[in-house]
Amino acid sequence: MNPLWTRHEIAQATGGRFIGDVPGVTGVSIDTRTLEPGDLFFAIRGDVQDGHDFVPAALSRGAAAAVVSEERASEFAEAGPLLVVSDVLRSLELLGVASRARSSARIVAVTGSVGKTSTKEALRLALMPQGVTHASVASYNNHWGVPLTLSRMPRETGYGVFEIGMNHPGEILPLTAMVRPHVALVTNVEPVHIQYFRSVSAIADAKGEIFAGLEPGGTAVVNRDNPHWERLRAHAFASSAGRIVTFGEHETADVRAERIIVKSDTSIVDALVFGQRVTYRLGTPGRHIAINSLGVLAAVHALGADLAIATLALAEASAPAGRGERTRLSLGSGDALLIDESYNANPASVRAALATLGSAETGRRGRRIAVLGDMLELGPEGAALHRALAEPIEAHEIDLVFTAGSLMQELFTALPRSRRGEHAPTAADLAKTIVQAIRPGDVVMVKGSNSTRMSTIIKALKEASSTDHAVVAAEG
Ligand SMILES: Nc1ncnc2c1ncn2[C@@H]1O[C@H](COP(=O)(O)OP(=O)(O)O)[C@@H](O)[C@H]1O
Ligand SMILES: [Mg+2]
Repeated sequence: MNPLWTRHEIAQATGGRFIGDVPGVTGVSIDTRTLEPGDLFFAIRGDVQDGHDFVPAALSRGAAAAVVSEERASEFAEAGPLLVVSDVLRSLELLGVASRARSSARIVAVTGSVGKTSTKEALRLALMPQGVTHASVASYNNHWGVPLTLSRMPRETGYGVFEIGMNHPGEILPLTAMVRPHVALVTNVEPVHIQYFRSVSAIADAKGEIFAGLEPGGTAVVNRDNPHWERLRAHAFASSAGRIVTFGEHETADVRAERIIVKSDTSIVDALVFGQRVTYRLGTPGRHIAINSLGVLAAVHALGADLAIATLALAEASAPAGRGERTRLSLGSGDALLIDESYNANPASVRAALATLGSAETGRRGRRIAVLGDMLELGPEGAALHRALAEPIEAHEIDLVFTAGSLMQELFTALPRSRRGEHAPTAADLAKTIVQAIRPGDVVMVKGSNSTRMSTIIKALKEASSTDHAVVAAEG
């Protein structure tokens, strides 16, 4: 066995004390539901649960050892091997820092208001054919997600891809200091989690923190099209970055799209990468994804990886569930297309999704239908930001809009009658209406903040599709 961490390395990194026989560990876990035998289980305290309550379960599922705090160690004397530390989360951070210190990987860190996970996944795809690539799982981008991803990084990693997120000022700083990226990319700055900030400029400052962790001489990658790009650039200047690279459609961008052709299920991009012409296809449709891809290429270039291999890989990308995943719904006499955007929503991502819906091809007599749930965490501007969506709905010629939630009601009443479908208080109340409204040829896009449970509607549509009857009955 070539362990991820030997007993000696773990003890050195964390300063903890082992009890029991632990030669080494093959993985790191904080969640018994996904734990693999051989993992080192850290009993982290979350918002709801305390990992200490799951120590016996972790050990019986084959954890090599459980990392527990001094105060509670005595409870687990009989449960199995332990690593006793003064602070469990701190020890995970220390293991992460040790992982970074031993690694010779080229590291890229991604933050931004929207598109972090999409960009992180695109970077993973682009780098995977070029070396052993290790990347954050899902959106593991916070105070535990980042050290967890670091501590899991295999020794032989060639490229490390880290997503870093935040809800408040100051949160990115300690995370980027752990990751110490060679390349740091900010996808964009938008009013997301705005209720925790004074202004969108304050969000730019918080995103700009990522550059403070750059290795000396590293590369800061900034979206030139974003209204806050100069503010980001100022943060990069103040850091130890050796270079600032811009991307976007702006004519001065270092990585610049000259032309983006958005098709129903793909986009074609003509780009100039430091003056070199590159034309590529993206497996995930949408103008916003094309813009993100310019940032991906800028980062690939800055890492010293191959652009041609990267662009070939991007053609293979497909949108994950909740972030644009497409499903054909079989409606008996024909098909409809479902676009699942139910994972989250804010003004930027809803506008992007409406644009993509607008360029989706409908079947004969099909309609473009948006099903929208509330965008949360927008603070006092919330109602106005919802009403303002009437404009992109008009611009992208969305035929029908269904809404759920009290904020989306603001939008519903702001829409012209011809575009109004129905409004309901919750997603669950709307599900049946949507199932009955959909017809062959339609394209339906469902989006809302995760906690509005718009995924309930996705589930209902898929179930109706597999059993057929509900939808067929509604056709006439
Ligand atoms: N550049 C962008 N502009 C607007 N919306 C975007 C952009 N990139 C991605 N999105 C959309 O934002 C939503 C969240 O994407 P994701 O990559 O998960 O972002 P994050 O990790 O930052 O939350 C998805 O609906 C996605 O399609
Ligand atoms: Mg994410």
